Amino acid sequence: ACSLVPEAWRFDCYPERGVVVTRELCEARNCCFIPTSNSSFSVTRPSGKNGIPWCFYPPDFPSYSLVSIKDTSLGQKGTLVRKVKTYYPADILILEVEIRYETDTRLRVRITDPSNPRFEVPISVPTATKKAERPEYTVELSKEPFGLIVKRRSTGALVNTTVAPLFYADQFLQFSTSLPSQFIYGLGEHRSTFLHDVQWNTLTLWARDVPPMVWTSLHLEHFSHTDIIFLLTVYVILQPAPALTWRTVGGILDFYIFLGPDPGSVIEQYVEVIGFPSMPIYWALGYHLCRWGYNTSDNTWEVVKTMRNSGIPQDVQWNDIDYMDRFMDFTFDSTNFATLPELVKDLHAHDQRYVMILDPGISSTQPEGSYWPYDEGLKRGVFIKDAEGKTLIGKVWPGLTAYPDFSDDVTHEWWYDNLQRFHQKVPFDGLWIDMNEPSNFLDGSTNGCPSNSIENPPYTPGVLGGLLRGKTVCATAQQKQSIHYNMHSLYGLMEAKASASALKRIVAKRPFVISRSTFPSQGMYSGHWLGDNRSQWKDLYTSIAGMLTFNLLGIPLVGADICGFGGETQEELCVRWTQLGAFYPFTRNHNSIDKKPQDPTAFSPLARTAMQQALLLRYSLFPVLYTLFHHAHVHGHTVARPLMFEYPNDARTYGIDKQFLWGKSLLVTPVLEPGADYVDGYFPEGLWYDYYTGDSVRSKGEEVRCHAPLDKINLHLREGSVIPTQTPNLTLWVSSGQPLHLVSSLSDNGSATGDLFWDDGESIDTYETNQYAYIIFMVSQKTMKSQVLHNNVEASYITVESASFYGVKEKPSRVLVNSQDAQFTYRTNQVLSVAALGLNLSQNFTISWM
Ligand code: NOJ
Repeated sequence: ACSLVPEAWRFDCYPERGVVVTRELCEARNCCFIPTSNSSFSVTRPSGKNGIPWCFYPPDFPSYSLVSIKDTSLGQKGTLVRKVKTYYPADILILEVEIRYETDTRLRVRITDPSNPRFEVPISVPTATKKAERPEYTVELSKEPFGLIVKRRSTGALVNTTVAPLFYADQFLQFSTSLPSQFIYGLGEHRSTFLHDVQWNTLTLWARDVPPMVWTSLHLEHFSHTDIIFLLTVYVILQPAPALTWRTVGGILDFYIFLGPDPGSVIEQYVEVIGFPSMPIYWALGYHLCRWGYNTSDNTWEVVKTMRNSGIPQDVQWNDIDYMDRFMDFTFDSTNFATLPELVKDLHAHDQRYVMILDPGISSTQPEGSYWPYDEGLKRGVFIKDAEGKTLIGKVWPGLTAYPDFSDDVTHEWWYDNLQRFHQKVPFDGLWIDMNEPSNFLDGSTNGCPSNSIENPPYTPGVLGGLLRGKTVCATAQQKQSIHYNMHSLYGLMEAKASASALKRIVAKRPFVISRSTFPSQGMYSGHWLGDNRSQWKDLYTSIAGMLTFNLLGIPLVGADICGFGGETQEELCVRWTQLGAFYPFTRNHNSIDKKPQDPTAFSPLARTAMQQALLLRYSLFPVLYTLFHHAHVHGHTVARPLMFEYPNDARTYGIDKQFLWGKSLLVTPVLEPGADYVDGYFPEGLWYDYYTGDSVRSKGEEVRCHAPLDKINLHLREGSVIPTQTPNLTLWVSSGQPLHLVSSLSDNGSATGDLFWDDGESIDTYETNQYAYIIFMVSQKTMKSQVLHNNVEASYITVESASFYGVKEKPSRVLVNSQDAQFTYRTNQVLSVAALGLNLSQNFTISWM
């Protein structure tokens, strides 16, 4: 029977690392052993390519049986029984399976232990109250062995879990499913291509100082049907069947299937479950400048001043840990950063903002009475405890540290008090939360960790170094909500939540928080940067996949360190990176310690100008970006969007991760290689317009070579769109008050649509409390109409000054603005422009030509 199992369908029966899997070991597990010569199955099996497993489950490997099933108000509930124990300890032999038909496009399946409650991830998800009436899926249950077969009504098979046995032991839970296609995206934060390789690819999801993780898998079927499987787990294995295995070391199995059908609606359905991302404060979308090692506040200030004098936009200045007194949170170095409070005041006077870093580790070695955060934290009992109930001590920048337990509300209050006290000295505007995996320079604690099955589970996922406590706190450490073993990857989420709510209370505006570690739901509280990249061309390229993946994960405010963090950048790389970075939803240049400065002013006049142009371009597109964030906040749309989302029927877009879109209409084609003065980009079928000139490109769905000298990033406008732009300035505060210029790209039949969300940029919940304006623009039959669907005083402060129409086939003889004749220009490349309009955004208007 063993040899009948096709190679692509062999599910790994011996996932343990560091073991040479022999026939003897394999057969002791009652599994099939067939060494394959073409396999790169290595002994140490690092995360990544493993090759075809030599030891795999036979088709009759014992699993659970479905012994009873009954209808419930939401679907069905059944009992599963396992008769034969597995090779892992503590099998849970009787399980409950619950199928919830939550909505027509959302199915939820929970497998739990009916006799003992187990850990469940504490994020709030919607509770369905009645069974979906016309589900787009069907669910079949296989009894012996138990399995779940989910089909899309229209096209058939989606998920079939009968392909491999179900495991549900205390510390080893696993199920596998076949997949209807090999196009897999998402699956947390990894430095990889956007489209995942299904050739025996293993991805570990465990927050680690090395990039952090979020998990979810978007999965594209052919012919524009997409679904998503989302499970809170730690380990995913992809194999070419195509099939996928989810494996985890605790908790329950609780997963959702979203049916889309198109990729964008899958993400909307996912985000509806995990929580919509918050609407960013306007300046979050400006240019942020940071580095580790300005060393003094005066140096920091100098850079800000040079930026201003060079006319380069900058909204936010940041400081890394060097601002602190001996790296202790809520302090600043009174010698080297003596002028920090003045610097922050000066930033505010120039409509700029200040963000500083905070690490979770709180110094535990200061003389009593000299460091309030620790003394008070001890008093209130906010720190994570070791297995014996004593404060767990690890080591980070300030030396020995205790770790706040953000799963406890008491800690949130203490965190707020600390921030509030510090804010009185340094009136910061936003927070950068780093090292929150949580990172530890020791493994576990100063006292090591106990030796038991929590620290050394029967199966350890492929975490770096093979130890759960590796460079973090002990798995047995105690937090309010559970042991760290269960809570580990939630640390960044909970710290972000505490930080955002504290900031909201302190500044009474939308909180700005950027976090390194993330978890599903994070978008409600913070954005994310992609961690410690390197100043290399390869990292420039992989940043696009990272940015797109986080947009799928409901954390659209994301970007990589522009010009690279580790290593020395070079001028050309930094220019190209600033151009691409101008299109990251979150745009920050950040540099490591002891590296040459890499802010725009550190380079030649030529490079400086190119960077300035790229940033001015971003600032001019602020109304577009802000509106996209509104749609992310309200509908769960992506901001930076893979081409595949807009062209799900064009398979050539499925693997594209060198280009991307902003929303549905702006195509960004960056240069990702040195020495290039052109770039080849894929243009899906249709009419595209050069954003800068209005020249049109008609594509049959082909590669187009674009001219790309060092001072240019290619930007194209898809036919059929209207985008609002503004004259840029050095801060968004100034530029967002400037008149609007509307750019319309007409489709073949002369139509286009677009919209604008506008509010005061900083008040909390403007959409929820109706303090906003929403305007749509429609062009058809030689007439543009603006329609104010929701009005607000903020719109009345803005004028619509000019409009360009790309693709006007014949020169008009007259142009009318609200029925009055107006001056216009018409160029031979079919661009019609009308200026000096002086229209008020808060009133409907028409522009027509004949
Ligand atoms: C690690 C962070 O990822 C990096 O951005 C920061 O500069 C250093 N910690 C120092 O705080």
